[in-house]
Amino acid sequence: MIRFRTFLAGALAVLLPAMAAAQQSVKIGLILPMTGPFQGTGRQIDAAVKLYMQQHGDTVAGDKVEVILRDDGGVPDTSKRLAQELVVRDHVNVLFGFGLTPIALAVAPIATQAKVPEIVISAGTSSVTNASPFIVRTGQVIPQTATTMAKWALQNGIKKVVSVVSDYGPGLDGEKWFDDTFKAGGGTVVDALRIPLANPDFAPFLQRVKDAAPDAMFVFVPAGQGSAFAKQYVERGMDKSGVKLIATGDVTDDDILNNMGDAVLGVVTAMPYSAAHPSEMNKQYVAAFKAANGGMRPNFMSVFGYDGMHAVYAALEKTKGSTDGAALVEAMKGLQWESPRGPMMIDPETRDVVHNIYVSKVERVGGELFNVEMATFPMVKDPAKAAK
Ligand code: PHB
Repeated sequence: MIRFRTFLAGALAVLLPAMAAAQQSVKIGLILPMTGPFQGTGRQIDAAVKLYMQQHGDTVAGDKVEVILRDDGGVPDTSKRLAQELVVRDHVNVLFGFGLTPIALAVAPIATQAKVPEIVISAGTSSVTNASPFIVRTGQVIPQTATTMAKWALQNGIKKVVSVVSDYGPGLDGEKWFDDTFKAGGGTVVDALRIPLANPDFAPFLQRVKDAAPDAMFVFVPAGQGSAFAKQYVERGMDKSGVKLIATGDVTDDDILNNMGDAVLGVVTAMPYSAAHPSEMNKQYVAAFKAANGGMRPNFMSVFGYDGMHAVYAALEKTKGSTDGAALVEAMKGLQWESPRGPMMIDPETRDVVHNIYVSKVERVGGELFNVEMATFPMVKDPAKAAK
């Protein structure tokens, strides 16, 4: 009897902590635009999060991972309210997603106050990571692609440019870093046009570009708006105007590129990801993503989300399952890994993404349109932060 009791006590001493650990869960509050004009971004990221968990399991370092998806329709006030609810009522350990810069910024004070990591996937304005010490970005920073595009233009005989950007955070970053880099290298920016973000009518701006007759137009519009842009670009006959189209890869977004038509053949872009990226890992990623999503092609947003999940999983492994917010952010600093986009890292100083920027050209491959890589600018940091 005594021996049995000793055995029982010993067994419980071993089992109870293990049971407690197994019961602990880590909750990820995923806030995305699943409806409205930016639903493509939500659909891509949600699919990537699901794929990541399918491939890597729903348990990490003894914690069960639970994702709670909320649709903010792309409206910052809604995102803020949802983030508050997720933190207070659902006790999420991580906030994740955010389709646009104003959304990531609206949620930042909640992350700071609750000491919950905010993993920024889509928002590309440089200043976003300054908004909270709990923000880590696995997406992209627009000055990385804009400066790369300017350098490539200077190296390729383009001398006169008009820049055309969406009139909000990432567009203004794109305008500043493209125009300044291009001018510093001896180029001329003859006009800098800003288009409203909501329901954009590109036609009058395209007419102004046509009248200015530059060598090229540099364009930034956010993911999903490329279709409307390409349609009006063709309607204005810009593809036959002799004005070359150079852009960030947000414009020739893989989610919609194949439906843009032959008018965009030859368009040159700078971007950290193309579905045509020729690595073995990416080939497998594209195949698995398509298989899980009825043939849908993954775009950069999906990879940004997939990598966000990697950052969370890798951090939980480093903290041995502790969900303490500050410890998780600390664990993400300096992480390095191979992504479908290529090598990448989280800058330990800025908590921002460092990755290759590829200059690509739209080509028809196997009957479909792709951004085919021509040049690689390796491991580009956010130039806006390096300049400080
Ligand atoms: C942003 O709002 O920061 C944003 C959204 C979509 C993009 C790029 C940037 O493709």
